[in-house]
Amino acid sequence: MAQPKILLFLNLFLALSSDAMAAYNIINFGAKPDGRTDSAKAFLRAWAAACSSKTPASIYVPSGKFLVSQALFNGPCKNAAIKITIDGTIFAPSGYSSMTDWVTFKYVQGLSISGGVLDGRGQAFWACKMAGKNCPQGASTLRIGQSKNVRISGMSLLNSEMFHMVIFGSTGVTLQGMNIIAPENSPNTDGIHIQMSSGVTIQSSSMRTGDDCISLGAGSTNIWMERISCGPGHGISIGSLGGITDDEGVQNITVRNAVITGTQNGVRIKTWGKPNNGFVRDVKFEHVTMRNVQNPIVVDQNYCPGNVNCPNQHSGIKISQVSYTDVKGTSATPVAVKFDCSATNPCNGMRLQDIKLTYQNKPAMSYCKNVKGSVSGLVVPQSCF
Ligand SMILES: *[C@@H]1O[C@H](CO)[C@@H](O)[C@H](O)[C@H]1NC(C)=O
Repeated sequence: MAQPKILLFLNLFLALSSDAMAAYNIINFGAKPDGRTDSAKAFLRAWAAACSSKTPASIYVPSGKFLVSQALFNGPCKNAAIKITIDGTIFAPSGYSSMTDWVTFKYVQGLSISGGVLDGRGQAFWACKMAGKNCPQGASTLRIGQSKNVRISGMSLLNSEMFHMVIFGSTGVTLQGMNIIAPENSPNTDGIHIQMSSGVTIQSSSMRTGDDCISLGAGSTNIWMERISCGPGHGISIGSLGGITDDEGVQNITVRNAVITGTQNGVRIKTWGKPNNGFVRDVKFEHVTMRNVQNPIVVDQNYCPGNVNCPNQHSGIKISQVSYTDVKGTSATPVAVKFDCSATNPCNGMRLQDIKLTYQNKPAMSYCKNVKGSVSGLVVPQSCF
């Protein structure tokens, strides 16, 4: 029989490769899988060992429930190949505190994380906000800051106080098979927020949250999103941009093969209605299915919550070269395509191709203001360019 032989070789290979690789099990650093003991220090000790290893290092989190009060995994490290495998669930403390990030990786180059459940336990914090109390800022669940070449796969992020994941000031980040879940009515629980980052890929991932599934902030460039399932939530959003002066631009963004279900927006670009030097250009939305989405295609350049600090001003953000190709499905409101652009900086180079969006089994409507663009293929609702 061939099988035992293969197994023998496999074991030999694993033994050899784990010899070459420094391997750290967090249990050996004092972590307790009991759901009660704070294992933060054990996680940080394991990280310190892996980070100071001159050869590739791996950290293993076995199954079980680990309570972690807060963890900042700091680099730079002595090797650029740290691998973290998580079989367990990591819990934030119940209640809430003043921390702004719960689990953070910062200044790290060459990191891969696979598996795991990170539960931010945001319930008490949401209750505080929904009661209109004076609450702290709230914490993101997982933050990747100032890092390079990071790969995360097969991870679940649950019930974050604020954004589930933030990618900031980083390059070369790949996320695959992410599963992000929070209740539809949980406030500001965005799935993944990207800012000041380049070369970010999100593939085969699902977000069901109370806010944007994915939001791209200032300085997001070369972003690729593919096979995305979104909703409930507020959809896939570029913005809000232009809230502060001189935003960095957003450029070369692709969303391909997305299914968006029961959300407030489908694919949105949103900017503040006030002066700014920023821009959004070279954006492609391709093969997107909308299911009962309130605003399937929307550009809103007049964001000015409460009409404070921007009434009667126009957005300075220049939006150009945005294409929508093969966007189909159902709108939950009569207007399915809305371009509400800036009077001083009209949207231009907008392209609609093969669009079919219906409202109650009839063609939906489009709305245009300060926009120039072109159409090809069959476009329903008829464009108002
Ligand atoms: C646009 O971004 C993709 C990754 O999403 C990258 O492969 C491509 O090279 C970028 N294009 C330009 C012109 O930078």
